Amino acid sequence: MSITLQLVHAAPASVETPLLAVILPAAPALNEELSAVDATLGGALARTLARRDFRGGRDETLLVVGGDRGAQRVLLVGRGAAALTRTTARRAAAIAARQAAKLGTGAMHVYLPDVTDDAVEGIAIGAAAGAWEYADLRTPPAEADRRLPLNTCTVLTPDTNSARDAFAAGVALAEGQAIAKRLGQLPGNYCTPDTFVEVGRDIAARHGMNITVFGRAELTREGMGAFLAVAQATPEEPRLVALEYRGGPADQQPIALIGKGICFDTGGISIKPAPDMEWMKFDMSGAGGVMGAMETIARMKLPINVVGIIGSTTNMLSGTAYKPGDVVRASNGKTIEVVNTDAEGRMVLADLLVFAKRFNPSVAIDAATLTGAIVIGLGHSAVGVFGAERQTVDEVLAAGERAGEPGWPMPLWDEYKEQIKSDIADVRQTGGRAGGSITAAMFLKEFVDGFAWVHLDVAGTAYSQTDLGWLPKGPTGTPVGTFVEFVRNRAR
Ligand code: BES
Ligand code: MN
Ligand code: ZN
Repeated sequence: MSITLQLVHAAPASVETPLLAVILPAAPALNEELSAVDATLGGALARTLARRDFRGGRDETLLVVGGDRGAQRVLLVGRGAAALTRTTARRAAAIAARQAAKLGTGAMHVYLPDVTDDAVEGIAIGAAAGAWEYADLRTPPAEADRRLPLNTCTVLTPDTNSARDAFAAGVALAEGQAIAKRLGQLPGNYCTPDTFVEVGRDIAARHGMNITVFGRAELTREGMGAFLAVAQATPEEPRLVALEYRGGPADQQPIALIGKGICFDTGGISIKPAPDMEWMKFDMSGAGGVMGAMETIARMKLPINVVGIIGSTTNMLSGTAYKPGDVVRASNGKTIEVVNTDAEGRMVLADLLVFAKRFNPSVAIDAATLTGAIVIGLGHSAVGVFGAERQTVDEVLAAGERAGEPGWPMPLWDEYKEQIKSDIADVRQTGGRAGGSITAAMFLKEFVDGFAWVHLDVAGTAYSQTDLGWLPKGPTGTPVGTFVEFVRNRAR
């Protein structure tokens, strides 16, 4: 994480800071603590509110110049008329952090008059999200042109244990999201399957997790012909990485979190069109989300068992690439008729879902940037949520809601199975244009045996091609929050 998050129990008028961000609701008023701040500003805040120059609308900001002591600047940030939740606080804190980064203040304090524990958690997550950047591949500007990055954010909180706990949870989530976002932002020539091995080993070492790493030899030994079919076009070593977090009783069945880790998706022989293809470096966002979630879960020390499983390779074209029409055998023995080499994610996930069974999970959730069709269906505001048991689906939907990564339920009915019947093999890889996200999920279901399962299609939500105001374009952190909230709820 590029920012240090701190917590302090202090009145806003008492802190020396280059920037005091004050998060206010619609139609704001000054409470006693803000009136004390206003006294150091000669009443500028009261006049600003009286003149209605700042109304507290969502994403609204107003910068007020401060004095030499106390707050050198006060940034009013609106959070709108909606209820104060972790998600609304997160958004406002992210807006504040982006402003602070733009101003180059280096540090900021955040004050919210009606603060709650949930808001504290949201502020920590949001401040980190707003300050997040990946600048390692850019030559730093000359000293004179350099602006201070936002190095520290201090949250003003009540002096309670629950506020401290909420803050720690927020930091844990911010750290996990930073891992997922960095992996997402890394270009295909920097984030390779071995990068997941490095990151996995680092997480495992720091948190005492067991780690399993497979390469081509082990995948072959395990008969993972679907995963290997995708990997056969690239000289890079394909990788399966499994991290075992044991926070619960030894005999407790784990939750399995599974992620698609395609480091770049050219489409293979069924090559994608050139425009926008560069965004396919984000095709590993499911796997990045698993890594981030494992980091957060371990930091939170949740009393539960979780296994994180990722499968990583690059979908390329070459003389050895798999082809439309090929028939390959997955590790559960089922044969697959390949139709379109661009449907590579489900090939990798098929073998991961079979692999998950050896951990005897109580439930498995997979996340994948699986289909363009989910972007057509749900756009960029909802994760596609698929599952056979309504109860588990509802549990995941509730987790996504709490995380500020809302999902929407999609059908997984037997009617759709017709579309993935093959003339030559046990199952056809794709089901045509109609209901493309659903038939992709139906395909995955063929490889699930003996545990509850939910599939998340995050193709429209794991990264953004536009600036969202509170988040810059690029990785969003989804699905780290959904994974973590699901596990957190089960650990309660
Ligand atoms: N990684 C893509 C899906 C994707 C599309 C993610 C757009 C993010 C944005 C996936 O591997 C893919 O190419 N899916 C195909 C499936 C089709 C060939 C059945 C698709 O959606 O076109
Ligand atoms: Mn593809
Ligand atoms: Zn893909």
